[in-house]
Amino acid sequence: MTIHKVGVIGFPIDHSLSPVMHNAAFAALGMTDWLYDKIALMPDIVKIGLRELRDHGYIGVNVTIPHKQAVMPFVKPDAIARAVGAVNTIDFRKNTGTNTDVIGLMDDLAAHDVMVSGETVIVLGAGGAARAAVYGLANAGAQVIVVNRTADKAREMIESLGVKAEIMSADQAFDAGGRIVIHCTSVGMHPKADESPLEAVPQGITLYDMIYRPAKTRLMGQVEAAGGRSIGGLGMLVRQGAAAFKLWTGVYPPVDVMLQAAHETLEKRI
Ligand code: ATR
Repeated sequence: MTIHKVGVIGFPIDHSLSPVMHNAAFAALGMTDWLYDKIALMPDIVKIGLRELRDHGYIGVNVTIPHKQAVMPFVKPDAIARAVGAVNTIDFRKNTGTNTDVIGLMDDLAAHDVMVSGETVIVLGAGGAARAAVYGLANAGAQVIVVNRTADKAREMIESLGVKAEIMSADQAFDAGGRIVIHCTSVGMHPKADESPLEAVPQGITLYDMIYRPAKTRLMGQVEAAGGRSIGGLGMLVRQGAAAFKLWTGVYPPVDVMLQAAHETLEKRI
């Protein structure tokens, strides 16, 4: 039996949840000839690593920290990957690269009935995660306001994405009517779970926090204490994976199975 190989490259890679998610989906679909593994690849051998994987029959890989930008010269990035400036999924059959973080976020917002078209949406952050959010939200017709510690970085991000978005302080953004917040910084992520990027939040807002460890961040607690709604980021992780799965296999996987597998693995770690 020929094994169809896919996987994830990164460094370090031990904590990646992608293998359990994808392998759970293969098992649920009876795709016993597919295997997803994690591949630790040191930054100085990214180019040769990609060639080896391709030559050894890998169908594709996910790409995670610190290689998302580094792989770009060695694949053909599509329009989304070029705009976001990062590749998280490669298909070796065509040597193309895309970025499924955008669809992962937008699909998970839709799955939670968070409608963004025509709404004022506040994006916290201006790093790689924020780039995917701003791109997806602006293209979905949201009025995007970026709030970032370093305003210059926010300006550079918006210019290079080529989208329309404003830059404000958090207070200004809430005063301007922002009632949906997408948290894209690393503030409050395990092991610094007692931190929050905002001192206070207004009543009744909706928060999507891209952090999934801890499952409930301090910021999510602040929003809920103020009568708002908060959603953690595990669903985005799963849905970016689901989009990659579909690209490689042609089949859209059972998202609930992938979510359960990721959730169980995280529970064991805490
Ligand atoms: P990622 O690729 O995960 O988005 P990144 O590119 O390092 O990571 O971006 C991190 C984001 O978190 C940035 O928006 C950063 O703000 P600056 O642009 O001002 O650096 C934000 N961030 C990180 N630590 C922060 C802190 N202690 N307070 C506020 N923002 C912080």
